[in-house]
Amino acid sequence: MVEGPVEIVMPDGTVERCDRPVVALCMCRRSLRSPFCDTSHRPRLRRERREREKENDEKDEKDKQEEKTEERAPE
Ligand code: FES
Repeated sequence: MVEGPVEIVMPDGTVERCDRPVVALCMCRRSLRSPFCDTSHRPRLRRERREREKENDEKDEKDKQEEKTEERAPE
């Protein structure tokens, strides 16, 4: 935890800024807001995110199969 606001210069030269009064830096490398912690390190949130991603993957696969079926159907 560091006192904010902070600006962090990334290895590629870009600057990430956070205006919060207290800023947590991600040390687990799971954050979607890297380099800042977004609480993805919490197991419950990881499980929920995995489940959500799995549901989205299944929905995408179903949509792709439906598109293929529509493409094959004669008009
Ligand atoms: S420390 Fe990585 S998300 Fe919190």
